[in-house]
Amino acid sequence: MTDQAPAQYAGPQRVLSGVQPSGALHLGNYLGALVKFARLQHEIDTFIFVADMHAITVWQDPALLANQTREIAAAYLAAGLDPAKATIFPQSAVPEHAELAWVFNCVARLGWLDKMTQFKEKSGKHKERSSVGLYTYPVLQAADILIYKSTHVPVGEDQKQHLELARNIAQKFNHDFDAPGYFPLPEPLIQGPGARIMSLRDGLAKMSKSDPSDLSRINLTDDADAIAAKVRKAKSDPNPLPETVDELKDRPEADNLVGIYAALSGVTKEAVLADFGGQGFGAFKPALADLAVASLGPVSEAMRRYLADPAEIDRILAAGAHKARDAAAPTVAEVKKMVGFWGA
Ligand code: TYM
Repeated sequence: MTDQAPAQYAGPQRVLSGVQPSGALHLGNYLGALVKFARLQHEIDTFIFVADMHAITVWQDPALLANQTREIAAAYLAAGLDPAKATIFPQSAVPEHAELAWVFNCVARLGWLDKMTQFKEKSGKHKERSSVGLYTYPVLQAADILIYKSTHVPVGEDQKQHLELARNIAQKFNHDFDAPGYFPLPEPLIQGPGARIMSLRDGLAKMSKSDPSDLSRINLTDDADAIAAKVRKAKSDPNPLPETVDELKDRPEADNLVGIYAALSGVTKEAVLADFGGQGFGAFKPALADLAVASLGPVSEAMRRYLADPAEIDRILAAGAHKARDAAAPTVAEVKKMVGFWGA
């Protein structure tokens, strides 16, 4: 222990994020995550993976899982990720994630995990029947991030608490092993109107893969008719759109639809209201439907194209896994030494 303030991480910047292959992707995943990944790859060294080890914290059919992984990879490519720029790989192909996660399991405190709201939501009333993996899930997530010494993590707002845990683990590891600044304290990149897309049926519930109503979400694989119908049937309210964002405060459905429009067109909610303030949903919904179809149509079309050639996807994933292992191995070797393992 020293009295000095901990040194800051001084290594290069790196972006890392991932998506679970546990169901069809929806507009929330696209705007909260995929669009940001594609943008960031031009600015910072970027690692994007398919979180298949996280997916099996709840039951996944073994006959389907590898294909679900290819589907997420296809969505990454369709959203504009370029394997020449970003390292794209399946998590399970880099076993070092699990190795570091074990060490982190011994760094993280039960009290920290007990606070995780996503575990409470996902385990529901029957916590004792959940897998142990579901409970330690955020520790594996910290290992995903820190194994590459990632400094920036683009995610939707629902991942904020997991990112705080990753920072706490990094800080405690650096402290316990007397290695100030060894791991960076990763910054979540959450800002923007796409960070929290809500259900089309309930402006207070998150758009989610697990919502039983398919009308609640726009799937990346929906065709133009389905998208238009879902926007038309989206819950709204009888009032015209306001002129200012402040006035959206007690109108969750209106706020959500304006937010979706803003995120899809890459502008602020203020800018959307400058165009549509004073107009009713009879005018706004068709404009939103047209925008959603024009934005997502090419993405689902590209996804279908990539999925028609699974061998090419596998080639990209294998090459990405190779690069990721090369980047992960030195961290695990150093950590083993710091912990004092035999032979390290
Ligand atoms: P997952 O697979 O649940 O979701 C993938 C990404 O989509 C974002 N997202 C949303 N964004 C806006 N509005 C919504 N309604 C919405 N729903 C989902 C999520 O925030 C996420 O960014 N634990 C992660 C996967 C993961 C990970 C990591 C992420 C594992 N290891 C390391 C970052 C870094 C998850 O379950 O995402």
